[in-house]
Amino acid sequence: MPKYFHISTMGCQMNESSSDSMITHLKEAGYRQATGPENADLMLINTCTVRAKAQQKAYSLLGRMIKLTKKRPDVILGFMGCIAQQEGAGLLKKFSRLDFVLGTREGERIIEILERVENGKERIVATDLSIKPVSILSPRDHFKGRVKDFLSIMEGCDNFCSYCIVPHVRGREVSHPPREILKQARNMVFQGIKDITLLGQNVNSYSFTENGDQPVQFFELLKMLNSLDGLKRIRFTTSHPKDLSVELINCFGSLDKLCAHIHLPFQSGSNSILKAMNRKYTRNKYIKLIENLREVRPDISITSDVIVGFPGETQKDFDLTLDLMDKIEFDNLFSFKYSDRRGTIAADMSDKVGEAVMTDRLNILQNRQREITFKKNKVLEGRIVEVLVEGKSKKGGQFTGRTKTNKVVNFTCNKIEVGDLIQVEIKQAFFNSLRGVATSDDS
Ligand code: SAH
Ligand code: SF4
Ligand code: F3S
Repeated sequence: MPKYFHISTMGCQMNESSSDSMITHLKEAGYRQATGPENADLMLINTCTVRAKAQQKAYSLLGRMIKLTKKRPDVILGFMGCIAQQEGAGLLKKFSRLDFVLGTREGERIIEILERVENGKERIVATDLSIKPVSILSPRDHFKGRVKDFLSIMEGCDNFCSYCIVPHVRGREVSHPPREILKQARNMVFQGIKDITLLGQNVNSYSFTENGDQPVQFFELLKMLNSLDGLKRIRFTTSHPKDLSVELINCFGSLDKLCAHIHLPFQSGSNSILKAMNRKYTRNKYIKLIENLREVRPDISITSDVIVGFPGETQKDFDLTLDLMDKIEFDNLFSFKYSDRRGTIAADMSDKVGEAVMTDRLNILQNRQREITFKKNKVLEGRIVEVLVEGKSKKGGQFTGRTKTNKVVNFTCNKIEVGDLIQVEIKQAFFNSLRGVATSDDS
């Protein structure tokens, strides 16, 4: 009888990517994917702890999974990802039903761990963070049926922004070898992938050195990928402003496959808060970078992350954040209330901002951004944009895809295949998407 697994994935693309390789390992070992957790012999939860809310969500899901296993004591239950990495053995103590805890660098051990759990009825903790990341290569038919996907080019983060748990749970930065990345990219293209997003917590600090050779930098890797036949679009996320080199900015002007979009978190518009956050750039430096990007690629779309209510943030600091938003006019912004994370420097700072003030600031900021996003989308009405067709949209008869600037377009078209690149005229802009008609249908 085949065994069935179910995996719930929370958090960022890093976790999506690690769940994906987990699925590969399990399938290779003969497991099949269950339709839901209630049909699974193995239940996995891949967790995030970037903010308190994410952590609570993971624990409440664990609670529900434990309930599901009440009448099925043979089901194996595993907790993996960033909470698993941080809490380790403590989780086994806290939750007697958990069979294993698997950290962020030990995913390769899943089959060995499962065998030990099944045979010896052992409970296992695997949270070594010093392990070198293993090969990123996926099996031959892994990408079949998809038109876009992620490619992890580096692991970990060395930046230690004072509020952030990521370096503590993902370990030090390690870049994968360019030849492995190129091999994986070729494999992806061969199976039909047209759009690759290079992935890393701090992707533009990518640097690979071998045998004392000159290091291969991120912009050089982009150039190599740009010459790959069959690949149509290259994206990358997430970049840190301090590592946005002139060479990388110039790539937006010279590499035809590099999409006109960058996600460049600014976090705050106030220099004193940026300093306390350990971000290593100033407000003016950030503004200058955006100007340089727009010089090289005037149509580039800029998205960003921002935190409100970092310890010590005054009304004046917050006003500077709003002012930066007005100056730059981001295409989209992901905004968060500051959340204390145990073990980070900011968690021990005094002068915490109250919840009510954070809520107010977040509302003001999000309303302002909604207006800006809508205004920027509105500019596209009447324009013709290139769209990569990703599938049928939920509404009948319509297709969905993305522009090079990463905006979602729902459109009608007569003859089209998923994976095609087509020209679409934008008829109407909304807050979160655009509606259009393929130019070949527009009579
Ligand atoms: N490596 C990426 C993503 C980090 S997590 C980067 O450097 O941008 C994604 C976002 O979560 C961050 O950009 C930040 O805005 C937010 N974030 C991280 N820690 C946080 C915390 N303790 N409280 C609130 N937001 C946080
Ligand atoms: Fe966290 Fe900063 Fe690293 Fe991003 S760059 S993951 S915010 S420490
Ligand atoms: Fe969350 Fe870990 Fe990603 S904390 S945001 S899943 S790196």
